[in-house]
Amino acid sequence: MKILVWDLPTRAFHWLLVFSFAAAYITSEDDWMVLHAVFGYTVLGLVAFRLLWGFAGTRYARFASFAYRPARALTYLGSLVARQPEHHVGHNPAGSWAIYLLLALGALTGALGWLSLEGPGWKWIEELHQITGNVMLALVGLHIAGVVVGSLVHRENLARSMVDGYKEGAPEEGIRGSVWIVGAVLLALVAGFWSAAWRGDLPALTEPAAKHAAEHKHRHEHD
Ligand code: HEM
Ligand code: HEM
Repeated sequence: MKILVWDLPTRAFHWLLVFSFAAAYITSEDDWMVLHAVFGYTVLGLVAFRLLWGFAGTRYARFASFAYRPARALTYLGSLVARQPEHHVGHNPAGSWAIYLLLALGALTGALGWLSLEGPGWKWIEELHQITGNVMLALVGLHIAGVVVGSLVHRENLARSMVDGYKEGAPEEGIRGSVWIVGAVLLALVAGFWSAAWRGDLPALTEPAAKHAAEHKHRHEHD
């Protein structure tokens, strides 16, 4: 039967991260640098939230429920190849490792982006920032492929479960509530951050990005 597995904060976090990462990636050019910084900082804030929620969240959101050793990811992949897929109500062992790496790369890329603007001005920081951003994009591709394969072998639309929170399982395995209030607070914080940035109320965040883009353009014109 269908049971509630993903609480609202986890689902809101996921789709806000998808949007913010995509938006940061698309705007990573000089002409869009202010938007790029705003969406990049959103990724950083979302990852920080997820780290807290990994301890304070409901059963399947807590890291303890998907703290698999790397070898377990291989056993799981082996079970797919053998066509006897292990079923997991929460994250499967392979997906768990993609999740940890995506969170780490989001934090690292965001931090390196911040250092590109506010740091010592070393060129290699910008270059490393670009590299980790692209590694993250590649991992997102693998993650989505994993979701498609997992959906097919388990005959269950996993993407939809990340939207409505429901998966196949036994009644006693479900979580009791979706903690919607925390999800609503997260959505309100992100919306507030975006609208403050849009109104120009956060010059400490947006001005360094505008300045960097202007200087960068200027340098190119004189190359
Ligand atoms: C920028 C792109 C994406 C990023 C960075 C990303 C990141 C993540 C993260 C961090 C989680 C862990 C959720 C949690 O417990 O907090 C997750 C899970 C999940 N994501 Fe994504 N995701 C992306 C795109 C997508 C897309 C496009 C889909 C749908 C096709 C998708 C479907 C899922 C599903 C179904 C899960 C749960 C996996 C499971 O059952 O274990 N993701 N993703
Ligand atoms: C985690 C989200 C982020 C992703 C995925 C990302 C991705 C990228 C990518 C791919 C580039 C290279 C663009 C190119 O030259 O082709 C880039 C450049 C840059 N990013 Fe980010 N970034 C993120 C967050 C940030 C943040 C938080 C900041 C600063 C507040 C930032 C500041 C910059 C700067 C200054 C550049 C260099 C632009 C130039 O060429 O002068 N990024 N970013």
